[in-house]
Amino acid sequence: MKKLSVVEARKKSSIGHQACIQGWVRTRRDSKGGFSFLEINDGSCLANVQVVADAALSNYESEVQKLSAGCSVTIEGEVKASQGQGQDTEVAASKVIVHGWADPNDYPLQKKRHSFEKLREWAHLRPRTNTFGAVMRVRNCVSRSIHNFFQEEGFFYVHTPIITSSDCEGAGEMFRVTTFNLEQPPKKDGKIDHSLDFFHRPTFLTVSGQLEAEIFACSLGKVYTFGPTFRAENSNTSRHLAEFWMVEPEMAFFELVDNMDLAERFLKRIFRDALEQCPEDMAFFNEWVDKTTIETLEKIINSDFERLPYTEAIKILESSGESFEFPVSWGQDLQSEHERYLTEKKFQKPVILFDYPAGIKPFYMRVNDDGRTVRAMDVLVPKVGEIIGGSQREERLDMLESRMKAQHLNPADYWWYVELRKFGSVPHSGFGLGLERAVQFVSGMGNIRDVIPFPRTPGNAEF
Ligand code: 4AD
Ligand code: MG
Repeated sequence: MKKLSVVEARKKSSIGHQACIQGWVRTRRDSKGGFSFLEINDGSCLANVQVVADAALSNYESEVQKLSAGCSVTIEGEVKASQGQGQDTEVAASKVIVHGWADPNDYPLQKKRHSFEKLREWAHLRPRTNTFGAVMRVRNCVSRSIHNFFQEEGFFYVHTPIITSSDCEGAGEMFRVTTFNLEQPPKKDGKIDHSLDFFHRPTFLTVSGQLEAEIFACSLGKVYTFGPTFRAENSNTSRHLAEFWMVEPEMAFFELVDNMDLAERFLKRIFRDALEQCPEDMAFFNEWVDKTTIETLEKIINSDFERLPYTEAIKILESSGESFEFPVSWGQDLQSEHERYLTEKKFQKPVILFDYPAGIKPFYMRVNDDGRTVRAMDVLVPKVGEIIGGSQREERLDMLESRMKAQHLNPADYWWYVELRKFGSVPHSGFGLGLERAVQFVSGMGNIRDVIPFPRTPGNAEF
């Protein structure tokens, strides 16, 4: 007998077929007429398939009538047209096999709706909820769009290392990687002797694959990396994770405007694909999570992003008449309240801020002719704030070295990065999109911890 997923069994084209459906019971309802309705979900889609289990089944009394939420089953039977509302098909069971029981006194996912905070405590069960199932299917869709977009645009996917000895963002927020016995690390002159560690040097989990991606952009032209990145910053916000996935395209012969154009097209593509390929999940978010989700995405797809120099943004914020918690002044990084004012109130659409003060941006960004600003760009969106960070890279050897020194970095430690500016240097640019921020924005989910399977945040790494 052919296995059908719930998504297939719900199609009219399956009517008349014998099928085997496997999944988890969501609800059981016994009818007076001597049969039961089972709602089965297998994660293939948001909706359940309705199964009609007749009292004539050999295990009707002994098993079927004891089924409850969470039990796992195989159903064999015929797919039929359904008389009921909300579905085209139902399955008339000829056999119900129970694989695993879920005691209703213990199984936490009963009818009652739990808060997202509570569900985080059950990271092993929350994928069985409607919301988290929808999040995971949309997350999958966004990941596929990312690959499709870059592959169709002629980019090569490169795998940059997870273990590294360089701090790309220069923020010193890195997790250390070592095989030392932490109780007794080897020492020389009172200091830890890293030359005796596994890699013969201090190593860390990467905060970004950019520096290595630049190597490949300066040889293959257009590349992207897409992998996990790690930040040991102690921020407990709804937008920060200690482990998150980042996609980072890097392009030779791209200047900042080309970079902005690419970022805008890229985001629109992701949003459009989510609406087109996950209509059921998106309708669910729109109904239960944020009633403006679909409308916001549609508006964004059909309008141009605002492009605004940082200096202009500061003027707008200063004269906004808003009472911000953090004061605004030229040279300071924008706080999320400022970003939200720009995207939600002032422009009501995504804003690409560019040409930031050199002092608040990493060493690799290209210095503008004014000497005070760098060719940075951040893409800000309503509610989430910064979704993309990127820049044109400094391709001039002398400028790069002086920027490094200004930020107390030793160019010798980055000799390979510096040499790219010595041998056939080219203007080039790139950016990073945080996958979770993208999924957060697409779904309207308020907390980034609820769009990744196993969130890593300060104090949380149990699952
Ligand atoms: O702005 P960031 O730090 O930029 C870079 O890492 C560059 N090297 C990227 C590049 O140019 N190739 O990070 C890029 C994006 C942010 O805009 C945000 O979406 C996401 O990564 N991000 C985080 N997402 C979740 N939790 C965190 N702690 C994040 N930090 C950054
Ligand atoms: Mg940034």
